[in-house]
Amino acid sequence: MKEPTFSMTDISSLAASTDAVILVGGKGTRLRPLTNSIPKPMLPVAGYPFLQHLLARIRAAGMTHVVLGTSFKAEVFEEFFGDGSELGLEIEYVVEDEPLGTGGGIRNVYDHLRHDRVMVFNGDVLGGTDLNAVLQTHVDHDAEVTLHLLQVADPRAFGCVPTDADGRVSAFLEKTEDPPTDQINAGCYVFQREIIAEIPAGKPVSVEREVFPALLDRGARVFGHVDQAYWRDLGTPADFVRGSSDLVRGIAPSPLVDGRHGESLVDPSAAVAGGALLLGGTVVGRGTEIGGGARVDTSVVLDGVVIEAGATVERCVIAAGARIGARAHLCDAVIGEGAVIGARCELNGGARVWPGVQIPDGGLRFSSDI
Ligand code: GTP
Repeated sequence: MKEPTFSMTDISSLAASTDAVILVGGKGTRLRPLTNSIPKPMLPVAGYPFLQHLLARIRAAGMTHVVLGTSFKAEVFEEFFGDGSELGLEIEYVVEDEPLGTGGGIRNVYDHLRHDRVMVFNGDVLGGTDLNAVLQTHVDHDAEVTLHLLQVADPRAFGCVPTDADGRVSAFLEKTEDPPTDQINAGCYVFQREIIAEIPAGKPVSVEREVFPALLDRGARVFGHVDQAYWRDLGTPADFVRGSSDLVRGIAPSPLVDGRHGESLVDPSAAVAGGALLLGGTVVGRGTEIGGGARVDTSVVLDGVVIEAGATVERCVIAAGARIGARAHLCDAVIGEGAVIGARCELNGGARVWPGVQIPDGGLRFSSDI
């Protein structure tokens, strides 16, 4: 049955009668070693676990019932968010004993759905799209599934999703050097509940590679909601620091950071010495100490870190309890929990230091003098 079109005044009732499902079961291998101990959606960006920004956006759009599809380190989510009431939400947790993939994860929460319409989110996408507009597109087209599609300048690194003149999805295409459209799958979908029931239960299924192509093959009503909103998949260290920096600088929207945008976001318990420079949307966590003359640019520095005098840190993630020695130079590096980088060390392009590893003073260089 086609639902009536909602006017702008009752648009929040459209959201209120929609379940939100967030897939957070991935292992986050591309972010190791940060994800050895913390699941990717719980890594802090701009001072909050990434997932909390997404939950705040879901709440602001008017959805209140949220089901998290968990697998890897499942217990961490419930310990942190509980029943969701502090966020104005009702959160349920559904655990996959073996990871079921994106499609299997959606199928696995089926029994917990309350509404006929379900908005599904990848738990690692930082987005700025108008969620109510996506829901409105879904209802306007009487769609069975609606995908948020993003127009990007260079679609070659992504699978493409062309649509016809009515906005109906015509194909799901693999990555190619010559894409026929600039629209990519942004990892946010609206499903009619009965479509979720069609996904095979209890086995791994990919929503992108299996569910969507099968729906097109059988002529299902699959539509696209196309926009150019802010969008970043925080799956790699480079995207992770960029996403956090964009939140701090107000380039990416989050209700949690509104009114506090700037070049840095520093926890009040951190100690930043005079003459230290914090730039590019850097975040500094609880109890962290930054020495005089240090320069920290576009980086995520977590709790209890020490960055000594004169060190430079650029586009890095420094996990809790790590120590960066005086005049060390770190660029595009990930430093694991409690690791020690000795004075005057240099770490460049893609270096990942495992938790607890200690590199002695001057012990790792890319040049003969620093
Ligand atoms: P990588 O290992 O670095 O590729 O990260 P990932 O494991 O998170 O995979 P990917 O980035 O492709 O996952 C996209 C989204 O789907 C993330 O929000 C994941 O948490 C989620 N996801 C991936 N696999 C599963 C799964 O088996 N079950 C559930 N519930 N969610 C999953």
